Amino acid sequence: MFNFQFYNPTRLVFGKGSLTELTKLVAPATKVLLLYGGQSAERNGTLAQVRDALKHCQLHEFSGIQANPDYDQLMPAVALIKQHDIGLLLAVGGGSVIDGTKFLAAAACYDGDPWEILETYGKRIHRALPVGVVQTFPATSSENNNGSVISRYSMRAKRSFRNPHVFPQFAILDPEISYSLPAKQLANGVVDAFIHVCEQYLTYPVNAAVQDRFAEGLLQTLKETGPQALATPQDYDIRANLMLACAWCHNGLICSGVPQDWATHKIGHELTAIFGLDHAVTLAIILPTLLEMFRQPKRDKLLQYAERVWQICDGDDEQKITAAIAQTRAFFEQMGIGTYLQDYGISADELQPVLDNLERSGMTQLGEHKDITLDVSRQILLNSV
Ligand code: NZQ
Ligand code: ZN
Repeated sequence: MFNFQFYNPTRLVFGKGSLTELTKLVAPATKVLLLYGGQSAERNGTLAQVRDALKHCQLHEFSGIQANPDYDQLMPAVALIKQHDIGLLLAVGGGSVIDGTKFLAAAACYDGDPWEILETYGKRIHRALPVGVVQTFPATSSENNNGSVISRYSMRAKRSFRNPHVFPQFAILDPEISYSLPAKQLANGVVDAFIHVCEQYLTYPVNAAVQDRFAEGLLQTLKETGPQALATPQDYDIRANLMLACAWCHNGLICSGVPQDWATHKIGHELTAIFGLDHAVTLAIILPTLLEMFRQPKRDKLLQYAERVWQICDGDDEQKITAAIAQTRAFFEQMGIGTYLQDYGISADELQPVLDNLERSGMTQLGEHKDITLDVSRQILLNSV
């Protein structure tokens, strides 16, 4: 196992009715900026409950944060934050609203052009406003991690940053708030979370038994509860287990002390930037191809994955790995997500801008061995058509 430090200061407030705790989490008279996306949180009654819980505060609002939040659409909120001397940013939404809010928390305190935050991957953030979260969409773990992904549509760019200052102070996770998610989004969340674990688990062994067992437990929970949640969207126990799994797939726990890949995410982000595909869709396309191409370097962990996650015991080692990759793809398809670029009308001759973006953002040595060069990324993309 590698040496590591684990730090995660986010208070999780989990369970049925937990939104009522919001009143106690925010001090009286705090100047709060409530940030949300489209109409989903208004329609399912979450915003009404939030406004009611914050009657003891000075509340301002910023709405319209879109999926894959856009830098230029977010920036007017910086002026609003300064104008009202805001003391807490409260995100009500999924990964996009939370990521947008984290970015604003840093941008409002940043000396210089805030786009630099993305260009320097968050390294120059020295301060950020406090962030709170009401999570409406189990998927990214953004509610309890220090990462954020921001797009800039005018540049066809999608960049990420990371900094300890943007960990949310608290995150309220009430599984019932997510009942209103459409099946397509529910599936996206499950597949995104599943692939977060794969990126931290399917590398090479370092004798990290605890992290491996945590990862395998999360994968098993997702493969069981994902289809169950699609079939019975209002079953509390299923949704609660799914929501907790999603929160813990990418919160710094299972990546502690182990090698990490993340090539699927980096290539996937550029597919979203160029073609507008949902985040999880891009991952479901890239991961199976990448595992197939890297079955030798990832061999030991793929075998462990086959046996422990998919209970594949028959056949020789190569057959087990083949079956595990096939089961992975079949799981994504079972959740309703097509796993080839052609499912979305994208052909091989349209892929050059994806590679140009990877090069521009310095993503030319990806993967746990840093051996996924641009040429390898090109092959992964071509094999995914
Ligand atoms: O805009 P509204 O009306 O809120 O609708 C949203 C949105 O259209 C809807 N939704 C959310 N909660 C709902 C709901 N609809 C009905 N009922 C509810 N309870 O769902 C749509 C998608 O929401 P979004 O926030 O975009 O989804 P997700 O949570 O999957 O976030 C995706 C973003 O997170 C980034 C992705 O790149 C993408 O930009 N990621 C962030 C990460 C992080 N911060 O650590 C890691 C991830 O790998 C990922 O890259
Ligand atoms: Zn993701």
